[in-house]
Amino acid sequence: MNKTINKAIFPAAGLGTRFLPATKASPKEMLPIVDKPLIQYGVEECISCGIDEFIIITGKNKRAIEDHFDSAFELEENLRNAGKHKLLDEINKLEHIKFAYIRQRAALGLGHAILCAKPFVRDEPFIVILSDDVLEPGSTVLRDMIKIYEEKQSPVIAVEEVPKDEVQRYGIIDGVMKGGVYEINNLVEKPKPVDAPSNLGIIGRYILTPDIFDILEKQKPGAGGEIQLTDALRTLVKKRPIYGYAINGRRYDAGDKLGYLKATVDFALKNKELAAGFKKFLIEKIKTLK
Ligand code: G1P
Repeated sequence: MNKTINKAIFPAAGLGTRFLPATKASPKEMLPIVDKPLIQYGVEECISCGIDEFIIITGKNKRAIEDHFDSAFELEENLRNAGKHKLLDEINKLEHIKFAYIRQRAALGLGHAILCAKPFVRDEPFIVILSDDVLEPGSTVLRDMIKIYEEKQSPVIAVEEVPKDEVQRYGIIDGVMKGGVYEINNLVEKPKPVDAPSNLGIIGRYILTPDIFDILEKQKPGAGGEIQLTDALRTLVKKRPIYGYAINGRRYDAGDKLGYLKATVDFALKNKELAAGFKKFLIEKIKTLK
């Protein structure tokens, strides 16, 4: 039976150490690309696929995320009185969306963060979005993954070929390509290049089924001493198929300074108000570079 997917989980309790000092007191999920925080890009990607229930796993110093998706009475009044209706619509456009927040008491890893959502997901399939993996505007990755899930009724994970010397930054899958998707037979979290079964890295888009929770409950800490989702998926793939979807289009690791800068440049060049001026600046700038 086809089950529609309604829920998306956003783990957002990480410490954001790659972006210190910016992330000392502010969540990395709130870093803006042009004028929107990272997490909102992920939320809007889900909304465009019909998802309207969001569970955000937060931690210490993450209050700004809740405030961002809440109403802002004083600001709204000000914008209304100033006749700034476009901005008012912009800040209110997600007001019909349901957000729930769960506080992860300690940053024990991605697997543990997902487990925190168990009481709210129960027996439904769900999406997991890692906000620092940003997809290019108009990406169809999530939509494509939902289609694969609906056909296969089994978990689907986004993957991308990554440089061989960067495999230790990712979960790496081993799989066989059949009919446009990888049938996964193994997954390893952050392997050394010599131990990596391939260079297919897991990207922060997952469609998971609730049977992952029972495995996560028993999952021992793995890479980095954290409870890893990848390790739980390795147990799950022995019981049921898991599929890997090779993403089309560009993905930015916006949790990394260089990746963040690349995303900012590309998104600014696609922004109607900024593109012309920014392009002019870049062309002039490039002339001065060696
Ligand atoms: C997490 C996952 C990893 C995945 C990566 C994608 O790692 O554990 O398997 O490849 O996200 O961004 P993190 O980047 O949180 O260390």
